[in-house]
Amino acid sequence: MSETMLTRAQAFEEAENAGSNPSGNPSIGDIIAARYHRRDVLKGALGVAAIAATVSPLALAASQKAHAAVAGFKFKEVAAGVDERHHLAEGYDADILIRWGDAVLPGAPAFDPAQQSAAAQKQQFGYNNDYIGYLPMPGAANSSAHGLLVVNHEYTNEELMFSGVGRQDVKENPFAKMTKELVDIEKAAHGGAVLEIRREGGKWSVVSNSKYARRINADTPIEISGPAAGSDRLKTKADPTGRRVLGMVNNCAGGVTPWGTWLSCEENINGYFWGKLADDHPEARGFKRMGIPGNAYAWGKFEDRFDIAKEPNEANRFGWVVEIDPFDPASTPKKRTAMGRFKHEGAAGITNKDGRYVVYQGDDERFDYVYKFVTQAAVSTDRAANRDILDSGTLYVAKYNADGSGEWMPLTHGQGPLTAANGFKDQADVLIEARRASDLLGATKMDRPEDAEVNPVTQKVYVMLTNNTRRKPDQVDAANPRADNKFGHIIEMTPADNDHAATKFTWEILVKCGDPSVAEVGATFSSATTKDGWFGMPDNCAVDADGRLWISTDGNSDKATGRADGIWALETAGEARATSKLFFRCPAGAEMCGPMFTPDLETLFVAVQHPGDDGPQWKAFGRASTFDDPSTRWPDFKPGVPPRPSVVVITRQGGGKIAG
Ligand code: FEO
Ligand code: CA
Ligand code: CA
Repeated sequence: MSETMLTRAQAFEEAENAGSNPSGNPSIGDIIAARYHRRDVLKGALGVAAIAATVSPLALAASQKAHAAVAGFKFKEVAAGVDERHHLAEGYDADILIRWGDAVLPGAPAFDPAQQSAAAQKQQFGYNNDYIGYLPMPGAANSSAHGLLVVNHEYTNEELMFSGVGRQDVKENPFAKMTKELVDIEKAAHGGAVLEIRREGGKWSVVSNSKYARRINADTPIEISGPAAGSDRLKTKADPTGRRVLGMVNNCAGGVTPWGTWLSCEENINGYFWGKLADDHPEARGFKRMGIPGNAYAWGKFEDRFDIAKEPNEANRFGWVVEIDPFDPASTPKKRTAMGRFKHEGAAGITNKDGRYVVYQGDDERFDYVYKFVTQAAVSTDRAANRDILDSGTLYVAKYNADGSGEWMPLTHGQGPLTAANGFKDQADVLIEARRASDLLGATKMDRPEDAEVNPVTQKVYVMLTNNTRRKPDQVDAANPRADNKFGHIIEMTPADNDHAATKFTWEILVKCGDPSVAEVGATFSSATTKDGWFGMPDNCAVDADGRLWISTDGNSDKATGRADGIWALETAGEARATSKLFFRCPAGAEMCGPMFTPDLETLFVAVQHPGDDGPQWKAFGRASTFDDPSTRWPDFKPGVPPRPSVVVITRQGGGKIAG
């Protein structure tokens, strides 16, 4: 691996930051500067933090001490930093539930990274676990002690998975060391997994030989459903119907529905395609807007469908939300086109007060948008009646006004600019090119929208905006108030009349992230937040029963923030609002994903993604690594095996709710 070569995580960061939104949607920086100051100082909470950010670290420390009593989280905070281990607040246990290569399907061969094969990988836990969903087992005596765990396998790291391969790219001698055999393993390590799990004697384990056990990979047959199904733009040589595709890829975050299904979101799908398309090809404009081809993988070397010159429409068949019924292992997953095509981060939803289901969605790219989908029908108590409820409804994109109001604008064919004159001949076109449709509607260009989750206590919606270092001072606006936004921020939205189907909302910034002791960073954590408690790059989140946030991060490091990624608990209301505490810290090089609570809030599932992707070389694979010291290594260490992406179960010693 050369000094200048990006790690796989950095490459995806680049892919997420392609900055391909060419629209001239407005910037209103001056107005926001004025508004931010007035509203937040009046409200008090952020005003205190804004003042704290301008004082010396010593004064800040004194102020933090004085405010510590108001913070509601009782756990003893973990020290921020970076090393080879995970760190967890005192009084809790963290156990690995399952790792890359562990058996999922009955009869799966034992993991042997030196002898890995696609056939074995298809039966084993995949790579880079991201979203985790928990679905209680119907009829279980304790719904928080027996259920199905659904896990996304977002992407693969060839340099960490395969001995002697190193990081491969398209530039010189494209993907020279990637053989068909290795690509087939990569494809088998993508997708997702369904696991039956139980808690007995306080410990969780995977039920072996479960009838629910399932692996979905990049070749699993998937149905395309909803308004874009059958569109000419989704037809290929292998599928002249435009209704059946092989596989799902780059499944990042997701959601679980009240009717017991799993929504798995395809994010950076551009990376799987290579090849060239003529500039005047009808798909060229749409592909450019999605950053296709992304050239991050060698798959096009062995399979025509990943080469856009040979099968251009294949790329239109990725970038969707996939609904999977984990309780029926024989069911065909469905790509729900009504929910739009973009780089989907997550799909957390809420049953609205009128019974309809509302799914909030981020499109994770610099200057892209926040969406929501509202079903046409209400959720039924009859499970079968909800089977295709996500095929009919309205997709909206968000506009954040400078005065703290906001609007949801429908992506409906024939309305406003979404007409044939602008290249949308029907609703399928609007959905396939949801980004371009949103450009024309004048949606607000955001700083990489990741997870969005509803606080079930207050109905407020939290949107994680991870960062955007390409925002220039003249591109600053109300909802994205910092140029060169290195550390991201979190927006809190309140639907009009607490109605998630409403087209109006109000919003404010819950916190601007980064080090609050450095005035120029402009972070707005409460002054009770310690030097360990602040974070950058919010990515995914969970909301607890008290409406507080548990935030997982992606992009903290020695260099970026002097701290590894992890889970921070963030107060959302009252005097302690915007007070953050570090609860769990990842080993070096890893990103934190998940997080998901059981309904009783006694278990927190988190996903440790790509441990070891920290730049230093991994010795067992001919490279040195921070993981080499047996006294400090990630606990699954075996000679010759790189640190493995893992699902980690966090419980409280002696039982009880995590938040305590
Ligand atoms: Fe896959 Fe936007 O994180
Ligand atoms: Ca993410
Ligand atoms: Ca991420």
